[in-house]
Amino acid sequence: MTTDSTVARTPRRLGTAPEPELLDPAERMGVDELRALQLERLRRTLRHAYEQVPHHRRAFDAAGVRPDDCRELADLARFPTTSKADLREEYPFGMFAVPREQVRRLHASSGTTGRPTVVGYTETDLRTWAAVMARSIRAAGGRAGDLLHNAYGYGLFTGGLGAHAGAEALGCTVVPVSGGMTPRQVQLITDFRPRVVMATPSYMLTVIDEFEAQGLDPRACSLEIGVFGAEPWTEQLRTELEERLDLHAVDVYGLSEVMGPGVAQECVETKDGLHVWEDHFLPEVIDPVTGEVLPEGEEGELVFTSLTKEAMPVVRYRTRDLTRLLPGTARPGMRRIERITGRTDDMIILRGVNLFPTQVEEVVLRTPGLSPHFSLELSTRGRLDHLTVHVEARPDCPAGRRAAAAAEVAAAVKETVGVTVEVQIVDPGTLARSMGKLQRLTDRREHR
Ligand code: DLL
Repeated sequence: MTTDSTVARTPRRLGTAPEPELLDPAERMGVDELRALQLERLRRTLRHAYEQVPHHRRAFDAAGVRPDDCRELADLARFPTTSKADLREEYPFGMFAVPREQVRRLHASSGTTGRPTVVGYTETDLRTWAAVMARSIRAAGGRAGDLLHNAYGYGLFTGGLGAHAGAEALGCTVVPVSGGMTPRQVQLITDFRPRVVMATPSYMLTVIDEFEAQGLDPRACSLEIGVFGAEPWTEQLRTELEERLDLHAVDVYGLSEVMGPGVAQECVETKDGLHVWEDHFLPEVIDPVTGEVLPEGEEGELVFTSLTKEAMPVVRYRTRDLTRLLPGTARPGMRRIERITGRTDDMIILRGVNLFPTQVEEVVLRTPGLSPHFSLELSTRGRLDHLTVHVEARPDCPAGRRAAAAAEVAAAVKETVGVTVEVQIVDPGTLARSMGKLQRLTDRREHR
């Protein structure tokens, strides 16, 4: 039996729930009503995908299924999954289910190799996206009338424009600052006095450091709510951000292929994982190796089927994100996902042992004297893979403490993950800072 460890592990300061009348009707639905809505929307999506997108038609035919074979939600398991590779093969517009002229906006994720993944939205899709993102900001504690500082990157990345439209739809005053130019971020936060900030958690750390470099106390700034996401982060980093900024730090999840930010959101009154906005996105968790659907509570790869998207419906899209499904709490009808542990592609296999950067983050942040800034370097020693963890000391860490801190991190990684790593403590301010999504790993192995 798996338990909901997120709740048990972290009793913490919680925020205030929205007044019930502020919630969208779907947020108030019971499970049965929601399931009926999902089934109707799912059947429509499967038909739309089959009829309009040659890729889906071929994939359904090859699997021997027709949209009408979906009579109940569990039937979805018989349908083929879609991968990022499928989207790349259909580059640029092959996955669109409407004529290109009806697509009002494109976004794309750069991808480290090869072609970018292109996604498109009709006018209705953009409205839906703004509505779910508005719902997310409200669940995080934001309200109409708030000033909101949006430091997610604007451009082809969905973070900036996605958060922006949601904030406007909620009725906030948006500061579209985007990422980067960190001294200016501090100036605008100080002068405009936003109540809500949106940024990647790693970039927020960069901004906090800049406050301190300017001799300002980040706790004294006006921010009360931080809506952080777009990369994996830990409970330990939540504590760090909440303490250093004196705000509520909540998790927002999403991905371009499914919509962008606003697919799932943590509620500030519970801070216990992210409610999936299930009236628009149907989640499954599968075994990443066998593809088998896993029961609620078991960890595996998150898979999404869009329920209302017009321009680019996705059918069982494999996110590569690892998590588990949990029952709803703050929004009882909607299931939660646990905070994402990592992506299957971020997993480092070190001498046969699986390690995620978030596991290192947890250890680093509970070690006295160490800052949250760390990077990972894979190299070859002899014929074996070797992992070096570089961690910055906190400015107030006594020089004599460093060796002990390094030994503590190495011992804790050995104990929790089961693998030996080398730990080097470096001076404050020497590791590269995040400007958005942080890439922690450098791979210098000779034979990859
Ligand atoms: O990162 C959308 C987004 C923007 C989400 C702003 C939240 C805030 P992509 O660039 O397509 O879209 O990257 C999606 O980022 O599959 C996860 O691996 C990761 N990710 C997103 N949110 C979280 C989160 C945006 N809260 C990929 N925790 C996803 C962990 C996250 N990982």
